[in-house]
Amino acid sequence: MYRSHDCGVLRIEHVGQEVTLSGWLQASRNFGGLTFIDLRDRYGITQLVFNQEERKDLAEQANKLGREFVLRATGIVRERSNKNPNRPTGDVEIDVHTLEVLNASKTPPFTIEDETDGGEELRMKYRYMDIRRNPVKENLIFRSKLSLETRKYLSDNNFIEVETPNLIKSTPEGARDFVVPSRMNEGQFYALPQSPQTFKQILMVAGMDRYFQIVKCFRDEDLRADRQPEFTQIDCEMSFVTRDDILETFEGLTKHLFKTTLNVDLPDFPRMSYDEAMERYGSDKPDLRFDMEFVLLNEHTKGHGFSVFDDAELVVGICVKGKAGSYSNKDIKKLTEWMQRPQIGAKGLVYVKYNADKTIKSSIGKFYTDEQIAGWKYAFGAEDGDIVFILSGEEEKTRKQLNELRLEMARVHDLIKPGDFKPLWVIDFPLLEWDEDSNRFHAMHHPFTAPKQEDEARMLNGDHETMKSLRADAYDLVINGSEIGGGSIRIHDRALQSKNFDLLGFSKEEAEAQFGFLMGAFEFGAPPHGGIAFGFDRLCAVLNGQASIRDFIAFPKNNQGRDMMIDAPSPIAKEQLIELSLDLKLEEKE
Ligand code: AMO
Repeated sequence: MYRSHDCGVLRIEHVGQEVTLSGWLQASRNFGGLTFIDLRDRYGITQLVFNQEERKDLAEQANKLGREFVLRATGIVRERSNKNPNRPTGDVEIDVHTLEVLNASKTPPFTIEDETDGGEELRMKYRYMDIRRNPVKENLIFRSKLSLETRKYLSDNNFIEVETPNLIKSTPEGARDFVVPSRMNEGQFYALPQSPQTFKQILMVAGMDRYFQIVKCFRDEDLRADRQPEFTQIDCEMSFVTRDDILETFEGLTKHLFKTTLNVDLPDFPRMSYDEAMERYGSDKPDLRFDMEFVLLNEHTKGHGFSVFDDAELVVGICVKGKAGSYSNKDIKKLTEWMQRPQIGAKGLVYVKYNADKTIKSSIGKFYTDEQIAGWKYAFGAEDGDIVFILSGEEEKTRKQLNELRLEMARVHDLIKPGDFKPLWVIDFPLLEWDEDSNRFHAMHHPFTAPKQEDEARMLNGDHETMKSLRADAYDLVINGSEIGGGSIRIHDRALQSKNFDLLGFSKEEAEAQFGFLMGAFEFGAPPHGGIAFGFDRLCAVLNGQASIRDFIAFPKNNQGRDMMIDAPSPIAKEQLIELSLDLKLEEKE
C-alpha cells in the first residue's frame, strides 16, 4: 500500500491513527533533536516529524533527503503543539516510524513554491515540476472543472458531443494553416483545423440539431499572451434558431460556469452594436469595468484656427477622473511619447487639466479662449480635479489610439476592481471589410456568416459601395475587454454562399474546389442554423482575472511557437522527407 490517506486530508479527529502517506519532499527543517519534513501531494501538505532520541537512524536518514525526493512514510497522527492555522492539516503531524525513499530527485532548477524564482523558459522546459506548484496545479484543476460543467450544461440542453477530424482541408478563420504532408498522396497536404466550422455546419445538414465539442484548434499566427498556436474551443452549432436563441443559450452557459466555479451570479448581459462600441470605446471588445467613454469634440473644437483639429476627421477625448494633479509636464511628455510609439502611432496628445483650485491648464490655450475650454468641461461631464486627453486625426485610427490610452489609464490608475466581471454581447458586425492593400473584401467573421436578413437582397443585388454597408448576423461575447467567443447565423443557401465567395474574391472554380462539399450539402435540405465558439483557454484566464492563457494550458508553446520541454518543432530524418516527397527542397538546398 502506498498510502492510506492523501497529504491534504488529516485533521484533529485522526489523532492516534496509524497512517501511510506518499508524496514529494517540499521542505525539511532540522532542529537538532527534531527533524520536520513537509510532505506534499496534489491534495496538500502534511508535516512529518522524526525524533532523534527515539529513532536515531530514521532521523539521520530524514536529514539526508533533498527537495522533491519521493517518499512513503508510515506513522501515528498526533496533535501539533505548534499549530499552523494557514494549512488545513496544520493541527496535526505524523510521528513517523517507517520511511522509504521511493525515488530520489536532483536539485530542482527552480523553487517549487507559489512564487517561484524560475523564469518562464525554465518553467516550460521543466513543466512537470512547474505543475507541482500550487498556482499552475490549481489552474489545471479549475480547467477540468470548467470543462465538466460545460459538458453538464450543454448536455442538459440537448447538445450532443461529436468529434470532427483533425486532418482536413483548410478552413478559413483568418490565420495561416498548419499543414501535414500526406505520404500516400504524393505532393498533397492536409490542413489542421483552425476550427471545426464546416463540419459543424454539415452536422446541422445531417440533422444533429444541437452539436458541441470541446476541441483543439490550430492557427499559425503571431502569438500573444492570449493566443496559442493550438488552443481549445467550446464549439457549438444549433438548428432552427435565431440569433437571440443562441445568445440566450450561451449567456446561460456563461452564467452557469460563473456560478458553479466561482459562485458568482452574473446579471443579464448588455448588448451593444459594433458601431456603438467603436464610437463609445474605439474597440469591438470594450472593457466595461471602468468608464472613460469617448467624448466627440468635433463641434466644440473645429473652426477656431487650430489646424490640427480643423483638418482632422475626428476630434475625440476621454476624461480621467480626479487625476489632474497626477500629471506634471514631465508626465505628460512621457505619456505623449508613449502614444507616439509606432505600436500606437498617435501624432500628439492634447490635454486639459481642470484643476481642483478651478484653474485650467491646457496644451492648446493659445488657440481657444478660457470660456471655450471651460465649455468642453460639460461635454466631458468633467469636474474640478479631472484631466482630459484629446486626440485627433483619421476617424478609425484615432479611435483605436484613444482605446489604447483608455486601457493604459485604467492600468496606470488602478481602475479595475479585482473580482469584477463585465460581460457584453457585441452584435451587428459589418459583414465585409474592405482591404486597401489587396484591393478586396475580407469576411469580418468568416465566409459562412449570413448577412442580417434585411440586408440579404442588398447583398445579392447591390453595387460595390453597398457591400461595405452590409451588416452580419454575427456576435461576440466580450468579458472584461477580452473576446471570449464569436459566432453567427450561417448562410444555408447555395446561391447566397456562392455570392459571398464571389465578393471575397474566389473564382467559381476555387470556391467549388475548396467548399463545393458544403455548398453541395446546402442543396440537400440544409436547415437554418447558427452557432458560436468560446475560447476555452481565454475563458479560464478571464474567470481567474488573468491576462495570459499559458498557465491554464498544461503544456503551452512559447512566443516562438516552441514546446520547450520536448523541443518541438524539430528537423526530421532525410528518409522521412523522401517518404513524404518533401526531399525536393532538400536537394535544392544541397
Ligand atoms: P473565432 O475565430 O472568433 O470563431 O474563435 C472563437 C474564439 O476562440 C478564441 N481564439 C483563441 N484562443 C486562443 N488562442 C488563439 N490563437 C485563438 N484564436 C481564437 C477566441 C475566439 O473568440 N468557427 C468560429 C466560431 C463560429 O462562428 O461558431 C470561430 O472559430 O476566444
